[in-house]
Amino acid sequence: MSNIKKQLEEKIAQAHLGGGEARIKKQHEKHKLTARERVNYLLDDGSFEEMGILVTHRTTEFGMDKQKFYGDGVVTGYGTIQGRLVYVYAQDFTVFGGALSETHAEKICKVMDHALKVGAPIIGLNDSGGARIQEGVRSLGGYADIFYRNVQASGVIPQISAIMGPCAGGAVYSPAMTDFTLMVQDSSYMFVTGPNVVKTVTNETVTSEELGGARTHANKSGVTHVTASNDVVCLEQIKQLLSYLPQNNKVKTEAISYELNDEVREELEGIIPDSANKPYDMHTVISGIIDKDSFFEIHKDYADNIIVGFARLGGKSIGIVANQPMSLAGVLDVDSSKKAARFTRFCDAFNIPLLVLVDVPGFLPGTDQEWNGIILHGAKLLYALSEATVPRITVITRKAYGGAYDVMNSKHIGADMNYAWPTAEIAVMGAKGASEIIFRREIKAAEDPELKLSEKEAEYAETFANPFKAAQRGFIDEVIMPKDTRRKLLKSFAMLENKTVLRPERKHGNIPL
Ligand code: COA
Repeated sequence: MSNIKKQLEEKIAQAHLGGGEARIKKQHEKHKLTARERVNYLLDDGSFEEMGILVTHRTTEFGMDKQKFYGDGVVTGYGTIQGRLVYVYAQDFTVFGGALSETHAEKICKVMDHALKVGAPIIGLNDSGGARIQEGVRSLGGYADIFYRNVQASGVIPQISAIMGPCAGGAVYSPAMTDFTLMVQDSSYMFVTGPNVVKTVTNETVTSEELGGARTHANKSGVTHVTASNDVVCLEQIKQLLSYLPQNNKVKTEAISYELNDEVREELEGIIPDSANKPYDMHTVISGIIDKDSFFEIHKDYADNIIVGFARLGGKSIGIVANQPMSLAGVLDVDSSKKAARFTRFCDAFNIPLLVLVDVPGFLPGTDQEWNGIILHGAKLLYALSEATVPRITVITRKAYGGAYDVMNSKHIGADMNYAWPTAEIAVMGAKGASEIIFRREIKAAEDPELKLSEKEAEYAETFANPFKAAQRGFIDEVIMPKDTRRKLLKSFAMLENKTVLRPERKHGNIPL
């Protein structure tokens, strides 16, 4: 074999060893896969083609010229997932703790540029000690090069980030600008400043896990959309998530074949309790409508008074936004509005039709909500739905009260089809609250105010606690039996397949941020 060929083989073998056996062992001891193991697990067998395997850093300071590793701490390239082209980068913690150097960043930028040119999703597997400290500002520039590309790619190709180890400081902003962030429990964390800095600045004592672990970001901050119990589960979830998404914003998600023999779903009858104040689980409504076991929930543990996620209807990908009466009676508040708005915008950017299931008593009252800007955050959801041009269908299962009726994909803000179940109550507010206001004088003057209130409440409920007033005005297209919901949606989404809406020319709208 010629000398060059031998050298090549040796270099590739070295690259495959990353930071060496000892560091790989350490990685495994932390129950983490290596970057290459992750890439190989994620992609279809044998499909990975690596780019830049022989890249090394150019730093000479601090003795770095004597410490070079092929690949420079990140494995980059392309391959397929379920036969679909994707680009991937995986930071290798065994090489300088996966820290990002100028060349490391260049490798990531190269696959991002490719992904954007070709129109294919990009998946980043993050496991890094942050900016390569020996490189100073060159490393910071590298981050900014990535951030800039994240923004150029936003709404053009799906961008998915998995956090599978440390992700701190500036490093957090690339995942934050991608469409979906997944985190692995107990082995990953994300924060702008770590526990030591927090202690110095605010005198709070907090562990990395408490400050920025997967549970924290799933429950409290909403930074992560999906959490996984380990690396393998995380990679499986990426594959599953990707199956609902198209390659880019110019195409639709390819449907999977589905035999339609279950259009009428009797189990949808009887879900709504007799009492308007009794909760029920909106998940049962969702699973009653969609293809069996096809729901992939996003932000499951965050703002659970609203449910968002992907599903399939007759094999086709749809996005679902649904109030959840089991939590805070399904009210809209700051967090649920933000959650639903962001999901809506993703679906709209990527041609995924939207189904909105409504059971909403209104916006959550209180100083906490007002002072935290419920006006602005509620407006985000209103804005996101109003601007969405994908097919949009609403089903009101029970309450649709007040301003929240307008916000939740009402006809007035451009929904294409609006259905209501016979149990729907479409009104300015609940019968009791309404009666106390509009019949206040009558009630006060009555011999038995309590009795009068209940009479008036019944009168108001008789008038408005039904879907008919809205149907008379055409705000509801059809009142349907729950068991027919799936059948109706299959037909109306098919009818809307070629929906086209042209918006006035503008640079971009000004969503209330
Ligand atoms: N730049 C250069 N090298 C780094 C690095 C960085 N930002 N972060 C980690 N490394 C190196 C370490 O020197 C170590 O090298 P070695 O294998 O030759 O000993 C290796 O990566 C692993 O780091 P280690 O500290 O042993 O791993 P750990 O699991 O105990 O801790 C971190 C991981 C990320 C918490 C810790 O390395 C750390 O705090 N890094 C610095 C984070 C930071 O401040 N980044 C800059 C700001 S964004």
